[in-house]
Amino acid sequence: MNVLIIGAGGREHAIADALSKSPKVSKLYCAPGNAGIAKHAELVALKDTDVQGLLAYATDNKIGLTVVGPETPLSIGIVDVFKEKGLRIFGPNKKAAQIEASKRFAKDLMIKYGIPTAAYEVFTDFSKALKYVKEKPLPAVLKYDGLAAGKGVVIAETLEEAENALKDMLVDDKFGEGKVVIEDYLEGPEFSFMCFVSGANVYPMVLAQDHKRAFDGDKGPNTGGMGAYGPLPFITEEDKNYALENIMKPVAAAMLKEGCPFSGVLYGGLMKTKNGIKVIEFNARFGDPETEIVLPRLKSDIFDVFCGIADGKTVEIEWDDFPILGIVMASKGYPGDYEKGYEIKGIEDTGALIYHMGTAEKDGKLITAAGRVLMVIGSGKDLNEARTNALKAVEKIECDNLFYRTDIGSLS
Ligand code: AMP
Ligand code: GLY
Repeated sequence: MNVLIIGAGGREHAIADALSKSPKVSKLYCAPGNAGIAKHAELVALKDTDVQGLLAYATDNKIGLTVVGPETPLSIGIVDVFKEKGLRIFGPNKKAAQIEASKRFAKDLMIKYGIPTAAYEVFTDFSKALKYVKEKPLPAVLKYDGLAAGKGVVIAETLEEAENALKDMLVDDKFGEGKVVIEDYLEGPEFSFMCFVSGANVYPMVLAQDHKRAFDGDKGPNTGGMGAYGPLPFITEEDKNYALENIMKPVAAAMLKEGCPFSGVLYGGLMKTKNGIKVIEFNARFGDPETEIVLPRLKSDIFDVFCGIADGKTVEIEWDDFPILGIVMASKGYPGDYEKGYEIKGIEDTGALIYHMGTAEKDGKLITAAGRVLMVIGSGKDLNEARTNALKAVEKIECDNLFYRTDIGSLS
């Protein structure tokens, strides 16, 4: 069968790698893809938001399964459009994707169904929002109610910071017109619990933890993620079961009851607080960079999993849970302004598993093409050995414009 992957990052490279191992996949395509994905798939020069273009491409090339990586095409309804034309596609429809696209939708659902999360209020009015913040203890957690590429959440330590963020979100409409969710501040280690979900059926993946801050010691600005690892030393089997039974399964059941059954990957961004495990956010897709260290532990044929979930059938999924750790190499300046086009050398010499997050090929050379560029992966008998192995590989990669963290998986 011909399979089309939509997206261009490390997550899509990991999906392409996993699919390329399936004997049932005859040809892989990826739109738009990157230089690493090109080793597994034919690249298609279409944007991930060009729904009509992708639909025409899938039809013309007899694509039997389309797998959607990023949130934007899901939130604009690519799944609805493909399904209407009878094409098989892996991912939630527009209504179900709201669990990520609208913080308010997710919060309302959690409160209605008693799923543990921070208490919150929704505001459209700047002065009312500011008054609420003034009445509550700091820090204040302010979330723009829409997709904002990871930049719509501000943890304000001071009133001044909160006031500025609220101005950005409600007066200057920096992310577009919208509402703000203000919630209580929670504390504890965070982890990513991704599950394959088809209606009420929930199939847990192995866990991962992402490191969102740019620099060692969890310092610097929030990014899309600078590294990830698993298994997690601070999460017991009991914790995982609690999260599965009290969070992931009830949410899938709630979506079904609300008339928007979920199909695809439901990502729970969870926090282990003193008062139990609580939801920070949901995503309607695979996490990036978590996917790059989760899918290498999948023992089952991912093509069967994707088709089973997309078709609403039951599936069987088996996992390994060996120590694995990935370090992101990012362009200097990221998550702020950065330059692209720097040559990258030495990848093959590392012998490591490396997923490309943002690379391109130019005149036969591999160059940097995004903020996050490579995810370099190591495994070992424990997380320390996995980190040492990943770092050894990182050090062999030559490029003048990359930085990385050295402490992934050592802080929790
Ligand atoms: P989100 O986009 O909702 O995942 O938020 C981004 C990051 O902000 C999270 O990964 C947390 O580190 C932090 N965060 C979000 N909500 C809270 C909260 N209620 N309390 C403490 N930290 C939070
Ligand atoms: N790594 C966080 C995310 O994919 O949203």
